[in-house]
Amino acid sequence: MPVTAMQASAYLHHLHLHSPDPDRLAAFYASAMDMTATATGADSWSVSGPSRRLLISRGPAKRLAHAAFAVRDAEGLSGLRAHAQANGLEPKAAECPMFAAGAFSTVDPDENLILFGLAKHAPSEQDGRLRAPLQHLTLASRDVKAIENFYAGKLGFGVSDRVVRENGEVTTSFMRGNHEHHNLACFYQDRQGIDHHSYEAGEWDTLRDWCDWLAEKGLQLIWGPGRHGPGNNLFIFVADPDENWIEISAEIEVIHDREVKHWPHAERTLNLWGCAIMRS
Ligand SMILES: [Fe+2]
Repeated sequence: MPVTAMQASAYLHHLHLHSPDPDRLAAFYASAMDMTATATGADSWSVSGPSRRLLISRGPAKRLAHAAFAVRDAEGLSGLRAHAQANGLEPKAAECPMFAAGAFSTVDPDENLILFGLAKHAPSEQDGRLRAPLQHLTLASRDVKAIENFYAGKLGFGVSDRVVRENGEVTTSFMRGNHEHHNLACFYQDRQGIDHHSYEAGEWDTLRDWCDWLAEKGLQLIWGPGRHGPGNNLFIFVADPDENWIEISAEIEVIHDREVKHWPHAERTLNLWGCAIMRS
């Protein structure tokens, strides 16, 4: 029976990032995000920490090799595949070292490869490390509506909020596969690829601890601390050596049932406590 991404409880499980210097990028995440990097080939790495997982291999900066969403169980996975097929997609069998057999892939309108599967490993223990599970991916696209039509219209992600210009043009769409405000978002930019990816620290105290951790590593915050409008999450941003923006967030809104909200478009601004920042 077809089920939507929401019904399958889809959550962002891992990202496979391309990089012109995979060794450097893997070393950065191991240090900055307190993860363990394991070489899996000449130019490829598996990097993981508690509930945060990346694959890294050689390719152009700021592009995905793939993004991967895990779903709740085998019934959810087969149902989501049926839902995609019923909406005109042609899911293909996919293999990924982080997923059990039976995963499938599809390609979005910007040619991002997206995998859905069952997580092979249970979430790892914290081992005293700072909390920050991988939580959302934000795509950059010249056509936000096409991206929303694909993920919400064909795969059944829910739409939480949109940012809209006065002329009606949608510049941001926030989408979710579970009760968190967004696991997936798309910002209008004059390019395709990744805008940023985000880890959820849960509480402000933990976000503060991440600020201290990053300072000890000599990393400068490039934005924040602040609080977003859509999603209401506290945030900080740092950049990796490929200039991928990394967000660490806390207190992201939990949605059970509400109408889609439209927010007025505003260019990115310096944050001030209490102001509604439009990016998330
Ligand atoms: Fe974000």
